[in-house]
Amino acid sequence: MEAVLMIRLDKYLADMGIGTRQEVKKHIRQGKVKVDAAVVKSPEYKVNEKESTVLYGDSPVRYEAFVYYMLNKPAGVISATEDRREKTVVDLIKTKERKDLFPAGRLDKDTEGLLLITNDGKLAHSLLSPKKHVDKTYYARVKGIVTEEDARAFAEGIDIGTSALPEWTRPAVLEIISSGQESAVRLTIQEGKFHQVKRMFLARGKEVVYLKRERMGGLVLDSSLKPGEYRKLTDEELRNIYGTDRHAEGHGSDYI
Ligand code: URA
Repeated sequence: MEAVLMIRLDKYLADMGIGTRQEVKKHIRQGKVKVDAAVVKSPEYKVNEKESTVLYGDSPVRYEAFVYYMLNKPAGVISATEDRREKTVVDLIKTKERKDLFPAGRLDKDTEGLLLITNDGKLAHSLLSPKKHVDKTYYARVKGIVTEEDARAFAEGIDIGTSALPEWTRPAVLEIISSGQESAVRLTIQEGKFHQVKRMFLARGKEVVYLKRERMGGLVLDSSLKPGEYRKLTDEELRNIYGTDRHAEGHGSDYI
């Protein structure tokens, strides 16, 4: 059975982006907030996350414990939550109502494409767990001619480590889109080793000059999102990555 989650009224409203904790406390004390049709003036009043009807003025405020954004990460920002010097992917989410967002996984600073920004640690863990072998598909442009021999090497697994410390990749699928002075490819891997795609090509003596993630498990980058743009996941996308309708059923265990 799913636990009933009771939550302070000021946190409920602040989490849903009504204002800062201080601002919403003021609104509550001013009598602007109703719970189940009665004005409640104490910020610490506990509401039921799922069942209470909360009105701010005349507007109902529904609680979403978890939020999920699909970001088309632009080059030049780092996959971190916050940083003193560099712009992070979480800084790009301007509409965020939550302070607990983080990127589910990392892309290099110069890599673009699909990144899930969420506060759902369980989902992130499941997507990123090496045991789950979740497919990640990248579009890459590579200096020089990419060959079927490269595809065969990737299919067998390739050593991207050092002679002192070999590091073998799992079999990966390479599709050659075009081959020439600069080749265009699509590569699907099931791991997320540090700089993996770049190191796989380097192990074949080739340099990746552009990299973009297009897919992660059941989640495909929305092609209408320009680099730096984002949107919330649809219910269908959430079902795709959870394998169950989590909104209706609460935390599922059956991810991807
Ligand atoms: N592989 C890389 O080399 N870089 C990324 O950002 C992702 C996969």
